[in-house]
Amino acid sequence: MTTGQAMSGGARGGRPPRQAPTGGAGLLRQVPPLREDLAGREPYGSPLPEVAVRLNVNENPYAPSPALVRAVTDAVTSVAATLNRYPDRDAAGLRDDLAAYLGHGLTRDQVWAANGSNEIIQQLLQAFGGPGRTALGFEPSYSMHPLIAQTTGTRWVGAARDAGFGLDPGRAVTAVRELQPDVVFLTSPNNPTGTALPLATIEEVCAAAPGMVVVDEAYAEFARDRSGTALSLLPRYQRLVVARTMSKAFALAGARLGYLAAAPEVVRALQIVRLPYHLSAITQAVARVALAHADELLPTVAVLRAERDTFIGWVRSRGLAAADSDANFVLIGEFGDRHAVWQDLLDRGVLVREVGPPGWLRVSIGTTEEMAAFRAALDEVLSEGTP
Ligand SMILES: Cc1ncc(COP(=O)(O)O)c(C=O)c1O
Repeated sequence: MTTGQAMSGGARGGRPPRQAPTGGAGLLRQVPPLREDLAGREPYGSPLPEVAVRLNVNENPYAPSPALVRAVTDAVTSVAATLNRYPDRDAAGLRDDLAAYLGHGLTRDQVWAANGSNEIIQQLLQAFGGPGRTALGFEPSYSMHPLIAQTTGTRWVGAARDAGFGLDPGRAVTAVRELQPDVVFLTSPNNPTGTALPLATIEEVCAAAPGMVVVDEAYAEFARDRSGTALSLLPRYQRLVVARTMSKAFALAGARLGYLAAAPEVVRALQIVRLPYHLSAITQAVARVALAHADELLPTVAVLRAERDTFIGWVRSRGLAAADSDANFVLIGEFGDRHAVWQDLLDRGVLVREVGPPGWLRVSIGTTEEMAAFRAALDEVLSEGTP
């Protein structure tokens, strides 16, 4: 960019003019001087119309039991008496509990927590990505990875998954060797396809990667083979990070609690970029109550897994394709006009997600009643002629 261009204003790609006329009685509208690389971007989020059956954001459909609501209320009540004080900025008790939940011999210094795993990903890219650095992912995958890369000034490179949504280890390693990325994202089970990666693939990428490897395991508890978690690789790879969330299996999306396991040096690096007191005392207390009630919460995972497998069979019995899924959602297709199907379902009070490769829709697994409502709605849509 020449100096002349830089001074010429927003219309030609430079800094936006500080004031723009709005017409009327000589009023001037202040244009916020948004970073050029963010100009024109919309806030992230899919449509959220009010509907009876919401199968669009991979939530756990089971609300907390009355006993859990009481336990959360009691915990919040006791925290409320101390809200004049900042929270424990290192979330020590919560990290102890998360380490105990994860097992694998992990301890507090190998675990970190933040407001949802999205904030975990943001902190990872703040610490290990950023201007002049590159992150690599294999798409289609979780769309927040490239979006957070962009907002942290990290260059994003999306390599393609295989046609069946898997990831050939040879191709993955070649992409890593060629690009030499500072951060590699592997999502397993992958969103939106539901595909889990074999541990051997993750290991080959870890061995080839020059920088950090982040395995996003937001849906790990829903996998058919839970022993496939990358947690078991942590002792061997110092630059491996396993990111998790309480939003899905723990049915705690509203509390916003994401976490990771990694080497203590990685956790210390994240403590440099985290904001002081980032995790509220209420969030910490609520998450600890949920962890203490894991025996009550986690059985919903088995129910949802069974519902998912039944659902996949049903979709295929209708002559449609359903991607094999190790998560709490299923990608179904292929529709000639997926938007029309999405809209037809919405018109019948069922909201799913229009995401993933063209022709496919992602359906989160809901309660038995919600899935019955989905099946009835889709049958109606199909009987009217598949768009
Ligand atoms: C793969 C993946 N990672 C991370 C997240 C973020 O979850 P949260 O910020 O609620 O912890 C999601 C949410 O859908 C996801 O699908």
